[in-house]
Parts: sequence; structure tokens; C-alpha cells
Amino acid sequence: MRPEVRETQAAMEREGYIAEPAIATAVFLARAMRKPLLVEGDAGVGKTEIAKVLSRMLDTELIRLQCYEGIDVNTALYEWNYQRQLLRLRIAGTEGREPTEVEQMIFSRDCLLERPLLRAITRRDGPPVLLIDEIDRADDGFEAFLLEVLSDFQVTIPELGPISATHVPYVVLTSNRTREIGDALRRRCFYLYVEHPPLEKEVRIIRARVPDVVDGLAREIASVMQAFRGRRLHKAPGVAETLDWTRALMALRLDRLDADAVEETLGCVLKDHHDVRELTAQGVDALLAGARSGGPADA
Ligand SMILES: Nc1ncnc2c1ncn2[C@@H]1O[C@H](COP(=O)(O)OP(=O)(O)OP(=O)(O)O)[C@@H](O)[C@H]1O
Ligand SMILES: [Mg+2]
Repeated sequence: MRPEVRETQAAMEREGYIAEPAIATAVFLARAMRKPLLVEGDAGVGKTEIAKVLSRMLDTELIRLQCYEGIDVNTALYEWNYQRQLLRLRIAGTEGREPTEVEQMIFSRDCLLERPLLRAITRRDGPPVLLIDEIDRADDGFEAFLLEVLSDFQVTIPELGPISATHVPYVVLTSNRTREIGDALRRRCFYLYVEHPPLEKEVRIIRARVPDVVDGLAREIASVMQAFRGRRLHKAPGVAETLDWTRALMALRLDRLDADAVEETLGCVLKDHHDVRELTAQGVDALLAGARSGGPADA
């Protein structure tokens, strides 16, 4: 491993994020080359956390744009503050003023409500980390608009003209692949696919995030999680579920996993009615036996 990558890996670990060399390399390069990082992977594998960790490593602000179906430029970039504009008109009055003067009065920077993209571009105290979360939920049109912004970090507001980035932000985009991201955006970014963690990595994540956990329990939980993911489930549990489950087991003062403990706390791991039914029908014992032997868990 290159020393730069090892240093990034260590820095991420200091912030509580366990990263294998591929993740550390992507983060190092995104940082060194100031290129957007596109992170794809299943739910709960640690995509969003990469942006949070990066902002802590760089000791800078995290600006988050949460995408959803129907998100538009107004929500992402800017809106005019109508109340302030109206108030200004009322106080100053319009009588005897040229239309251009009135326009300048109300279409000024201080009447602008900055939304995440504009805030990321205009931030004065050094570059922030801009997290564009769940880009797959936005539509193609919004993606095209984003591509434009990410290409030159300049936006044009018709009434004000172009605004260029004071500092080019560090950008992390995440996607759960509910919609395919276009090639143009992919080409613009570094690409990182995050898998569900293998056993040893998950044990380390549990220890890093829930330091009070006893070693044996962490290992048992991680191996049962591997067994869960070996099943054909509608919603495979991610690391988020692993950590929830660990904390729940500890709150219940259960320090080893038996069939009863798993059944009672299944709601921490499985979030789909069919998955719960299927697993209970097959028997939790079979799952535990599969996990302990380390072999294939599928019945
Ligand atoms: N490698 C890791 N090291 C430490 N903690 C991790 C790691 N991966 C995931 N986590 C933890 O797991 C939880 C879920 O991570 P995160 O929210 O980043 O997942 P996600 O991939 O963005 O999920 P979703 O697709 O549901 O948004 C967080 O609490 C995060 O801290
Ligand atoms: Mg996320």
C-alpha cells in the first residue's frame, strides 16, 4: 500500500471508519485531485458516512444535498426571499424610482436564500465537503443540471449573472442504484463500489463503533450477519443494522447469541415482513448453525 493511502486509511480509522485499501485510495485521490467521488452500493454499507468522515478529516463543513424524486433547481441552488423583497419594497417605496433601480433593490445577494449547491460554491472559509446524497432518486434532468454545476463550479442566476466558486468543494455523490446514473456524470467522477463488509472488517467496524462490546459477541454478531446476507432476502441488512443490533443486544444485556435472543431482536436486522416470515419458517437454529460453521447459510 502506498504511504499516502496508508495515511488516509489511518486518518479514516481515527474518525471511526474502517476502510480497506480500495476505499482509502478513492478517498485519497478524490481529495488530492479534487475530483467528485461517486459511491455506489447497497443500503447501509457506509456510503454517506464516507462524506461525513472526509469532512471531519479535513476539519471542514459538510454541506448536504439530499436528493429525492421531484427535487428541483430551487431546492438545490437558490430561491429568492420574497418576504425580504416585499419588505424592502414597502420600506423604500417604488414611487419615482426607475424600474432597474427597483430591480437592483430586490434582486440583490442579500435577498437570495442560498441552498446547498450555492452555499458550497460561495463558502468563504476554505472548501467544504459537498455531499450529494442518493442522486439516483433525482431524475435525469436534475442530473444533467448537476453535471453542469460539477463541471465548472459556476452557476448563473439570471438577475445577478454568473457566480463562480470561491473554493472548489470536495464532492461526494452516493447512489443506491434505484436508477442508473448516466455515463456523462460517471465519467466526471471517481467511481467506488462499496460491498457489504467481509467478516473481519465487520468485526472491526462493530468494535470501532460500539467500543463497549465484548469481543466474542462482536464476532458472533458479524458471523450471523454474514449468514443473513447469504440468504435470499428482499432487503439484505447493512452495517447500520449490525450496529443497531449490537446496541440492542447490549441494552438487553445479552452477551451471546442463541436462537431466542436472535428471534426476540430480529426486528433490528430484518425490516421486511416477508424476510421475517421466511427466516422464522426456516428456523433461526439453522441460521446460527450456518454462521458458526462459517459455511453457506442458505437452507
Ligand atoms: N466501514 C465502516 N466503518 C465504520 N462505520 C461504518 C462503516 N460502514 C458503515 N458504517 C456505519 O454504518 C451506518 C450506515 O452507514 P451509512 O449511513 O453511511 O450507509 P449508506 O450506505 O449511506 O446507507 P443508505 O444507502 O441506507 O443511505 C453508519 O452508522 C456508519 O457509521
Ligand atoms: Mg446513505
